[in-house]
Order: sequence, then C-alpha cells, then structure tokens
Amino acid sequence: MSQRFSLHFSHLPLVQRVLYTCALCVLGLGYAFAMIYIFASHHGRDGDPMLTVKDIAIAYSGTKSGTKLESALKGPMSGMLPADENLKIIDWVRSGASEKEYEDSVKTIIDNRCITCHNNRNPHLPSLEDYQGVMHTAEEDHGVDMFTLVRVSHIHLFGLTFIFFIVAGIFLHAYIRHEWLKIAIIVIPFVSIIVDVASWYITKLFEPFAWVVIGSGALMGICFGLQFIISIYQMWFYKLPEDVHLRFYCSVEDD
Ligand code: HEC
Repeated sequence: MSQRFSLHFSHLPLVQRVLYTCALCVLGLGYAFAMIYIFASHHGRDGDPMLTVKDIAIAYSGTKSGTKLESALKGPMSGMLPADENLKIIDWVRSGASEKEYEDSVKTIIDNRCITCHNNRNPHLPSLEDYQGVMHTAEEDHGVDMFTLVRVSHIHLFGLTFIFFIVAGIFLHAYIRHEWLKIAIIVIPFVSIIVDVASWYITKLFEPFAWVVIGSGALMGICFGLQFIISIYQMWFYKLPEDVHLRFYCSVEDD
C-alpha cells in the first residue's frame, strides 16, 4: 500500500512542531487584526453602527446618495469629532458646500479635528487643509476607485496566497479520515480569494454582489479557523489511533 497521507504531526520532530505553532499563532493574530480592520474601515457607512451588507456595497459601489465625506463622517471618522460639529459639516455638504460658509464655520472644525492626519504631508489620505481638498471628498461617492482596487487586489492575491500556502502546508500533516474533506478545506480558500477579489469589481457595478464578497470572505475565515484549530489540536493534544497509524501511515515495507 502506498502512503496516502503526509507524515502525521506526531511523527514530526518537536522543533518542527514548535516552528509550526509559532507561525500559526502569529498568522492567527494577523487574521484577527485583519478582521478588526475590515470592521473599523467599513462599519456604519449606511448609518447602522454594525457591519452590514449595505456597508460593503457602499464601500465598493458608492452611496449613490451622499458623498465620501458624509459616509466617512457617519462611519469610520465619526469618533474624530463631537456629534454637533459632525452634523454641522454634514449640513454644510447637503446645503451645497459653499466656499463662504466653509470659511465661516466649517474650516475651524476641520482645522481642529482633521488636519493632524489629513494634511498635505500624508499622501495616503485626502488632504483637508483647504477648500479644494475638502471639496474633493464632498463630491458624489462612487466607492473605491479603480486604481485603489487594482492595488488592493494584487496585495490580497499575493498576501493571502502566502498565508494559505503556509497554513495548508502545516495542515497537510493533520489526519482527516476523508481525503476529499481535507482537500476541500485546502482548496476552498484559494478559490475564495479569486472569487472575493473578482466580486469587488462586480459589486462596483452590481451591488447585490456584496453578498458574494461577504460569503467568500466567510469561507476563507472558516477554512483558516479549521486548519488552525485542527493543526494545533493534533500537534499537541491528539494521539493517532493505532489502527489508523497502521492503515494509513505505514508502507508495506515496514510490515
Ligand atoms: C487620527 C487620524 C485621523 C483623523 C484625526 C481624521 N481622520 Fe479621516 N481618515 C483617517 C484614516 C487613517 C483614513 C483611512 C481609513 C480607511 O480607509 O478606512 C481616513 C479616511 C477619511 C475619509 C475617507 C477617504 C476615502 O478616500 O474614502 C474621509 C472623507 C475622512 N477621513 C475625513 C475626515 C474628517 C472630516 C475628519 C475630521 C472630522 C477626519 N477625517 C479626521 C485618519 C484620520
């Protein structure tokens, strides 16, 4: 009989299991921060403080009603200023965003609350130092622009492939009775990465695809969780049953 499975964790030297555990723990922490980041950057765009499908749709395709400035003020930037000042800016945007009113009342708020981060020295954030800069964010919100999507796509495609290649490389040493199940847990994240990235672009045109963005992200998370938990468990707490050991892990020559 040929060996159908990679060596089980229990056959690996201690040092290799320690290395695997370290890598898994740091990647798990990274995954947790990625989830926090997704929540922090998308929640509340639709007015509801929870992260909703609508938030995702708005992030990619825009609000159709309202501006980038408004969705930022209702969402990720809402903690940067008191509610009454927040409302003042939103009222100003809705009433036409005139330059006179900006100079009269809005500029001081923005100077006090926003330009420590949103200044000309920070190339990654829209500058709010002058009227032109603010107006740039007060135009109709069309969601993430194409250039940003392309940039984030390549980062995700490379980054997530590295992560899942490492995690699956470790998970290979786990024992799962059904081979197809193990293969599915390994393959699904890679398919999900592609579906996820593709659905960002589609969501820009067709909002209901926000469900696919969320679904593929959830599948990725579930598979990451499964690989993580099964690997850690089988590495340190699990004893391979004797019959399994004989049936799957010993070649004919050993017998
Ligand atoms: C502590 C730093 C900080 C402060 C203060 C701050 N912001 Fe931001 N702002 C950010 C970061 C970081 C992002 C990017 C967040 C993201 O993409 O999720 C951002 C994003 C935004 C965006 C969205 C830009 C886009 O391209 O979608 C707008 C609009 C915005 N901020 C407006 C404001 C306003 C108005 C204020 C003041 C009331 C403010 N910010 C205060 C750090 C800050």
